[in-house]
Amino acid sequence: MKKKIIILDTTLRDGEQSLKASLTAREKIKIAIALENMGIDVIELGFPISSPGDFKSIQQISKIIKNSRICSLARCLEKDIDVAAEAMSFSNSFRIHLFLGTSDIHVKSKLRKNFKEIIEMAISSIKRARKYTDDVEFSCEDAGRTSIDNLCRIIEKVIKAGAKTINIPDTVGYSFPEKFSQIIKEIRKRVDNIDQSIISVHCHNDLGMAVANSISAIQAGAQQIEGTINGIGERAGNAALEEIIMAIRLHEKSLNVYTNIKHKEIYKTSQIVSKLCCVPIPINKAIVGINAFSHSSGIHQDGVLKNKKNYEIIDPNSIGLKEVKLNLTSRSGRAAVKHYMKEMGYHKNDYDINQLYLNFLKLADKKGQVFDYDLEALAFLNEKRKELFYFKLKKFTIESYSKGTTTVSIKLLLQEKEYSTKITTNSGSIDAIYQALKKLTNYSFIIKQFQLTLEQKGDSEIKKIDITINYNNRCFHGFGLTTDIVESIVNAMLDAINNIRRSEKIKKK
Ligand code: KIV
Ligand code: ZN
Repeated sequence: MKKKIIILDTTLRDGEQSLKASLTAREKIKIAIALENMGIDVIELGFPISSPGDFKSIQQISKIIKNSRICSLARCLEKDIDVAAEAMSFSNSFRIHLFLGTSDIHVKSKLRKNFKEIIEMAISSIKRARKYTDDVEFSCEDAGRTSIDNLCRIIEKVIKAGAKTINIPDTVGYSFPEKFSQIIKEIRKRVDNIDQSIISVHCHNDLGMAVANSISAIQAGAQQIEGTINGIGERAGNAALEEIIMAIRLHEKSLNVYTNIKHKEIYKTSQIVSKLCCVPIPINKAIVGINAFSHSSGIHQDGVLKNKKNYEIIDPNSIGLKEVKLNLTSRSGRAAVKHYMKEMGYHKNDYDINQLYLNFLKLADKKGQVFDYDLEALAFLNEKRKELFYFKLKKFTIESYSKGTTTVSIKLLLQEKEYSTKITTNSGSIDAIYQALKKLTNYSFIIKQFQLTLEQKGDSEIKKIDITINYNNRCFHGFGLTTDIVESIVNAMLDAINNIRRSEKIKKK
């Protein structure tokens, strides 16, 4: 029978402690709710003794989270344990997670104790924590570098003292998968009372092995996995939960395990964590990177169009991702170009694919990535017509006061006629520019992404703004390139609006 793997998420504790700026209580609540919606079994909310802010947010979240077990970290110190219990006291059931260094280096040079004293500290702390809850987890900090004899010795004692989960952290990401699974196997073999507890692992990614070590621990019999969303965490981070969860799902049969995670929530949760924590997701990040499901080379694109499974091991819908992208670059073949034209509603007889493909390659060489509306323009538009219906920026002024209002005046040219407006808002310059352009052009869109790149050209610094907007369920891009950041923003928005316009004009033809 398949065994359930318990997923403990420590984004709000191990993940949060690695951020440049702490999360606010509101941000933590949002993340906790997303984790609960995703079906996380145990959510580690923080380290309440570490700051009054952490304590307060744990208290608030304890009142909200009902379906996941909540958990807080504590050192093996009386005060830590009492404060952890107090922070979670609004909840009917909670876990106290105790940790204590067990490797020689931690015992001697960090804690300045001997191993017998470590065992005593662990036992008395577990007994104290058990007065507040039945659910006590004990972590042998730096287990990856702890001698197996010491590890088995302390584990047997802490289970006897009442720890229900024994965590084996590879705190400094030192282990290799084979060695790490050997540790789990030895513990299961040598600790007499091990069946009275759950074996958990908590791997860090210093050598890029965190996910591999976690999976190898499952193969050796671990029943709980700890990690964070997007792999954020101390130094190189923790094991990325979305990767472990999807690896389990894909290999459920051979691993003979399952999780209760709602996979469709993964993408959304990953985006929430990335945004609130201000930690961008690398484009090639497994499962949640924007390139994880996009195909670039002509051969791959052709293969995917014939059968997705040629190059996709995971259905992107299963993590809640709606669209799969074929990147249109100079490496794309005719198949991708035809595919995008078809997606936009054009029949192959509507355009000349040979001519379009040649023009596409020329544009792709110049521009890098080409978008669907660029294809439309190449297929149907002659240059003279294009000029006619583009908005051009004639003039703009902006006046902004800190914590006050922003006034923007914009004058545009369209077919040699001038259009101008003046807008005052108290929601910042970008919104003021957006409002003014919306009023002038009648296009109301949602800004999805905004990116600033600084480029040095001779003595001047060029501010390049790339913008992605959503209009009528379609993405459009625009960029602005000037020495003035605000002017670049105006130009980028206008460029995106012109791309919408161009696409509409072609459709009307
Ligand atoms: O990495 C680690 O050892 C930890 C413990 C507190 C579990 O984060
Ligand atoms: Zn950790």
